[in-house]
Amino acid sequence: MSRGLNIAINTGGGDAPGLNAVIEAVVMAAHNRNWDVYGIKSGYTGLIDTDEIVRLTPDRVRRISSTGGTILGTTNKGNPFEMPVTNAAGEVEIRDVSDRVVENFKRLRFDCLVAVGGDGSLEIAYRFFQKGIPVIGVPKTIDNDMGGTVITFGFDTAVSTATEAIDRIHSTARSHERVIVVEVMGRHAGWIALNSGISGAAHVILIPEIPFDIEKVCDHIMAEELHGERYAVVVTAEGAVPAGGGQIDRGAGEVGRQDVLLGGVGQYVAEEIAKRTGKDARSLVLGHLQRGGSPTTFDRLLALRFGAAAVRLIEKGKFGSMVGLDPPKIKAVPLEQVIGSIRNVPLDSDTIATARDIGICFGD
Ligand code: F6P
Repeated sequence: MSRGLNIAINTGGGDAPGLNAVIEAVVMAAHNRNWDVYGIKSGYTGLIDTDEIVRLTPDRVRRISSTGGTILGTTNKGNPFEMPVTNAAGEVEIRDVSDRVVENFKRLRFDCLVAVGGDGSLEIAYRFFQKGIPVIGVPKTIDNDMGGTVITFGFDTAVSTATEAIDRIHSTARSHERVIVVEVMGRHAGWIALNSGISGAAHVILIPEIPFDIEKVCDHIMAEELHGERYAVVVTAEGAVPAGGGQIDRGAGEVGRQDVLLGGVGQYVAEEIAKRTGKDARSLVLGHLQRGGSPTTFDRLLALRFGAAAVRLIEKGKFGSMVGLDPPKIKAVPLEQVIGSIRNVPLDSDTIATARDIGICFGD
């Protein structure tokens, strides 16, 4: 009798509601084929030091689909191709430890790695595929900016959380006749800001795809005032940029991560509005609240579908690909087609047209 497959699974990058649902679906679908699944801790780091690898049985994962976070842990600083390592002199240096990952993968007799991650983690997965590891990718990010799928799980939950926060901000902003700027996540894409801003009836929405002119933002707020609206709610994506100006961020981030830490544009916008209009203005950063909590029904279902589809792709031997939603189907997308590209909000999107039609200003 041939042995069943041994599947390794990891979750990498920032967490997103729905990760546990993917894990549950992969384990259950594999179990129903008499395959075994092993959980790798903290992205790829659990394949460098393999002490904490856990066998994921149905008992361990049953009904975790409703929970937030990831039972495997995650990191956005664990790229084995560029790993920060402390040397004998106590200095941090960057080393390529990817061969160790490949050796451990083979030694543990894994047949496939299901890599659940965003663009960074899936790019690493692709590099391991090129080094001979059979890989299936599952896209995740609250930012919704990945190519090859019309939506990622986590996004719907993040938008719901942001919308609820914006709803609450209206009453306090109205009571004080203030401008309140709410900064939401999304990196260099405006999906969260756009969808939550419209749903939460913001007066102004700022997204990276449409550089904003602060004067136009102020003009809109003052024009609203003439119509009796003496307060305003501005929703800004963390990656929004002033026209003719540079991105506002918090610098290069921590050792071992490849991206800058975004944040600060909300405060900048609030200060500029206060200065130019004389109105009282405050800013609020929603931050990691948007990544926390239980996934919505939509995200749960999508994540379960992605996990089960990943196991079907293993069965078909479609390694080097990622699952992606192309409604009504889930398809296999070659990883090389999706890595390194960002899916932005199209400027001719119906959602942007809707916002403009209902009187929301983009500062352009
Ligand atoms: O990519 C997901 C995301 O939440 C972005 O929206 C945000 O810019 C980033 O991660 C924050 O990263 P960290 O959790 O490392 O602060």
